[in-house]
Amino acid sequence: MMQKTFIIIPTYNEKDNIGRLIEFIEEKVFPKIDKAKFAMHILIVDDSSPDGTADLVKKLQKKYKNLSLFLNKKKAGLGGAYMKGMTYAVDELDADLMFQMDADFSHDPLVIHAFLDKIDKGYDLVLGSRYIKGGSIPEDWGIHRKFMSLVGNLIVRAVLWTWTVNDWTTGYRAIKKEVFESLRKEMDRKEFSGYTWQIGFLHKTQRKGFKIAEVPINFIDREFGKSKIGAEYIKNTLLYIFKIRIRELDRIIKFAVVGVIGFVVNLTALEVFYKAFGIRPDNAAAMGAELAIISNFCLNNLWTFKDRKISDFRKLIIKFLQFNLTSLGAVLIQKVGVWLGLKFFGESYYLLYFIASVAVGMVYNFVMYNKVIWKKEN
Ligand code: GDD
Ligand code: MN
Repeated sequence: MMQKTFIIIPTYNEKDNIGRLIEFIEEKVFPKIDKAKFAMHILIVDDSSPDGTADLVKKLQKKYKNLSLFLNKKKAGLGGAYMKGMTYAVDELDADLMFQMDADFSHDPLVIHAFLDKIDKGYDLVLGSRYIKGGSIPEDWGIHRKFMSLVGNLIVRAVLWTWTVNDWTTGYRAIKKEVFESLRKEMDRKEFSGYTWQIGFLHKTQRKGFKIAEVPINFIDREFGKSKIGAEYIKNTLLYIFKIRIRELDRIIKFAVVGVIGFVVNLTALEVFYKAFGIRPDNAAAMGAELAIISNFCLNNLWTFKDRKISDFRKLIIKFLQFNLTSLGAVLIQKVGVWLGLKFFGESYYLLYFIASVAVGMVYNFVMYNKVIWKKEN
């Protein structure tokens, strides 16, 4: 099926670049692309640049019928410009596929083919990556800028703890309409109006399970005009990645508190059933365990995972049964863990085996809750 494709280029004071870039793409790149597969267009998103960038684009529109211009009255920031441009491309221009590209020739338009090949293969988001084999950052970049880019990427990956993508901040990308549509609401926020757009968009794409590919690019330093990147970028990026991490830690803390409550419920029930009702301790313990399971399920549903709360009655029953099975799994882990310890290291350290297998069981529980019971729906 033919995909209507837009190369979206945000511009702020790019008069000395944009004309040449549009001509290069139109004359040297588009003619070589298979028209049966991709119908190629360009969309410039200009924030009423004082240098008259938009007037130049308007002139070129007479020559190129597949060239569109979206004019912002106010400066929206890089992310703000993409938000507006993509919304316009999808809602008004019927875009199936969109590119992000800088106006200053930093992104070699000849690589567009490589992006399209990956889209052809079924990927949803393709990144132009400077940090994979065949890619590079400019040699003449100052040590400061090189350091920022390299260490910045490393910090993002370490804090988010994700190692599959190599270039988090790249601004050269191909994005399928479906990806943008599933993120547009979350992305329409002030924190993404600047360069943090790049990291936020990629992180959300990854979390939703879209297929991501990277193609190597050689980032070329601009010859004309100035970079608009600034301290806002660093601040908002750090805020964003740490916020995400803390949100995850917050869940782990709640999970632990619920676990402790479950333990207390278990112990209290055992005592009450045994001492007050004369039920045999092994049966009393089993009943206490089930009560703890019920308490854990309810508290996790209402608190730990309240953002993914299960409320449909039928689903609640199914998930509760699954939860019981998961808990049985944790009991099994304990049993096998202690058994292994006894077998290999003898009886004197049995408490140690117990604690170690409880820890393993907790990790197992947390993963199961996240990935199965309270699985995130896309
Ligand atoms: N409309 C609009 N509004 N465009 C903007 C704005 C804005 O507020 N700010 C920047 N742009 C445009 C520029 O005109 C250029 O076309 C593109 O966005 C990239 O801006 P540069 O100022 O050239 O960014 P850079 O070279 O410093 O940053 C590059 O590297 C970053 C980090 O790797 C870009 O590729 C970024 O996208 C990338 O995140
Ligand atoms: Mn640039």
